[in-house]
Amino acid sequence: MVLAQKRLKRGFTVEIRDAQISDIDDIWDVFNLVVDEGIYLPVLSQVKNKADKRSWFYELASSGDFCLVAVLKGFDGSARVIGQITIETSDEWDGIEHVGMLGILVHPDYRNIGVGHSLLEEAFDEAMRRGKTKITLSVFHTNPRAIALYKKMGFVVAGVRKCQFWVNDGYVDEVLMEKFLNPVESFIRAR
Ligand SMILES: CC(C)(COP(=O)(O)OP(=O)(O)OC[C@H]1O[C@@H](n2cnc3c(N)ncnc32)[C@H](O)[C@@H]1OP(=O)(O)O)[C@@H](O)C(=O)NCCC(=O)NCCS
Repeated sequence: MVLAQKRLKRGFTVEIRDAQISDIDDIWDVFNLVVDEGIYLPVLSQVKNKADKRSWFYELASSGDFCLVAVLKGFDGSARVIGQITIETSDEWDGIEHVGMLGILVHPDYRNIGVGHSLLEEAFDEAMRRGKTKITLSVFHTNPRAIALYKKMGFVVAGVRKCQFWVNDGYVDEVLMEKFLNPVESFIRAR
C-alpha cells in the first residue's frame, strides 16, 4: 500500500510504501552497498542468497513487523527502491511488544535529500497503527548524519556502550537512542 508521496531536495520525488516480495533484490542491494562501505553497520558479509533474502521477508511479515521502502519513480515509468526502514519486535524477551527496534538504510547516491526523514515519518505512523508506543535504535558514535537526523526526529540518547564494536581498525561506541511515539506514555509507567 502506498503511504505517501514525498517531494525531496534536488527535485526528486519518492513514494513510501510497504515492501513487497518483488522488492527484496533492491532492498538487499542497498544493504550490501552499505555493508561494503564498512563504517555504518556491525556486519561484514553481504547477503546474496535468494533463500536468505526471501526468508527474511516472510519472517518479518509473519511476525507482524514491517519494512517500508522509498521508491524513486523515473520519468520513463521505472521504479527503484533507494531506501528502507524496518521496525521489528525483539524475540529475545516477553513484555516488550510495545517497543519497535528501528533499522534504516538509504542508497549512497541518494543521501542528504530527505529520504531518511520521509521513511522515519511514515514508519512512526505505521508503528503507532500497529500498537507500538516506543521506538529504539542503536547507532555508531562515528555516524553524525544519522545521529543528527534521529535527534531532529525526536530521539534522545538513552545510553552509550563504550567500545562496543571493533570497526575499520578501531573501537566504536554504540549510542542507544529512544523515542516515545506518544509522549504521554512516559508518564504512565508503574513505579
Ligand atoms: C543515516 C541515513 C539513514 C539518513 O538518511 P538520509 O536520507 O541521508 O537523511 P536525510 O537526508 O533525511 O537527513 C539527513 C540530515 O542529516 C544532516 N547531515 C548530513 N551530514 C551531517 C553531519 N555530518 N553532521 C550533522 N548532520 C548531518 C543533513 O543536513 C540532513 O539534515 P537537514 O534535512 O536538516 O538538512 C542515511 O544517510 C544512511 O543510510 N546512511 C548509511 C547507513 C546508516 O548510517 N544507517 C543508520 C545506521 S544506525
